[in-house]
Amino acid sequence: MTQKEPLRIGILYSETGATSTIGRSQLQGALLAIEEINEVGGVLDRELVAVQYDPASTPSRYAELAEQLIVRDRINVIFGCYMSSSRKAVIPVVEKWNKLLFYPTLYEGFEFSGNVIYTGAAPNQNSVQLADFMTSNFGSRVYLIGSDYIYPYESNRIMRELVMQHADSEILGEHYLPIDASEGDYRAIMEDIRAKEPDFIFSTIVGDSTASLYRAYADAGFNPKTMPIASLTTSEAEIAQMGHDVAQGHFTAAPYFQSIDSAENHNCLARLRKRFGDHCRPNLCWEAAYFQTHLFANAFRLAGSDNISELLPHLLGSEFEAPQGRVRVDPNNHHTWLYPRVGRANAQGGFSIVRQATRAVSPDPYLVTHSLGDWTAKLDTMEEA
Ligand code: ACM
Repeated sequence: MTQKEPLRIGILYSETGATSTIGRSQLQGALLAIEEINEVGGVLDRELVAVQYDPASTPSRYAELAEQLIVRDRINVIFGCYMSSSRKAVIPVVEKWNKLLFYPTLYEGFEFSGNVIYTGAAPNQNSVQLADFMTSNFGSRVYLIGSDYIYPYESNRIMRELVMQHADSEILGEHYLPIDASEGDYRAIMEDIRAKEPDFIFSTIVGDSTASLYRAYADAGFNPKTMPIASLTTSEAEIAQMGHDVAQGHFTAAPYFQSIDSAENHNCLARLRKRFGDHCRPNLCWEAAYFQTHLFANAFRLAGSDNISELLPHLLGSEFEAPQGRVRVDPNNHHTWLYPRVGRANAQGGFSIVRQATRAVSPDPYLVTHSLGDWTAKLDTMEEA
């Protein structure tokens, strides 16, 4: 039992709307960490209490609720956001009030805010590795499909630049669909893909419409062995929506997959299932939402305050033994050292890891070095998933 006044933190993960499947898993990651922190006495004898709202996958609601958390609920630290459009909506609010946002999602990079800690992958920790893997295994004639907002535009721009490093590369199509696109909306694109025969499709589709894309692909009769979909956003959560058979054989690059074979991951998954049940679909955003809450708690224990100026010196440079491996907040750019991996969706609804870095890769959100990372550990490469 903790003795002192609880410490309240703000939580903005979407439980409804187009990205609610991944949003609910982010919420589970945060709540699991909060319970673990409270089980060992909270932070400096204070219980951690989530003040939690549902922004309904709508960027303007994220901004309104961030303001409400800060002004009405008097909260200093907010954990939240999935789509980059929601992060872009919240940043002016946390900057105006000088509060802190923890953002647990891969994104397009080319951003820095002193009021944000970025715990998802920057492009040098997922796009670079995915481009390297896909072009060396399938070829560099690529078809780009994305949802209609900033992350897909920018992530596709980066993928285009990466594949263009190959002399014979070609971008055969680039299309953006509404965030609520249904299977029928993809049909004309599938016919264009049939005509153009790319080596692979790069999908920056997010949320519920991911399942529609993969189903439209399967209905078109395409074969992932010869022309797979590669993505940074199709996780175990989206695969559960579309079905294992539809997802099987397609590729995703991420620092975390549920199939990581480490004691930290196995133990964390066991605690998650005990708390939330066997139907959970832990994924890259679940894991980042989990470990960033622990990073905060550890920094608070040292700072004795959740005021940004007192907290940041203890947060920057801090490390945590996360399910993906030991992560570290980079003191220069507020992003996180992570472990790039590429997984192929398997028949069990998870990912078989086909390649992974042997050590954490430093975040380079402005892609200054274009490092290909450390690919010395090649696991099960291209074996049957
Ligand atoms: C994203 O919008 N950062 C997935």
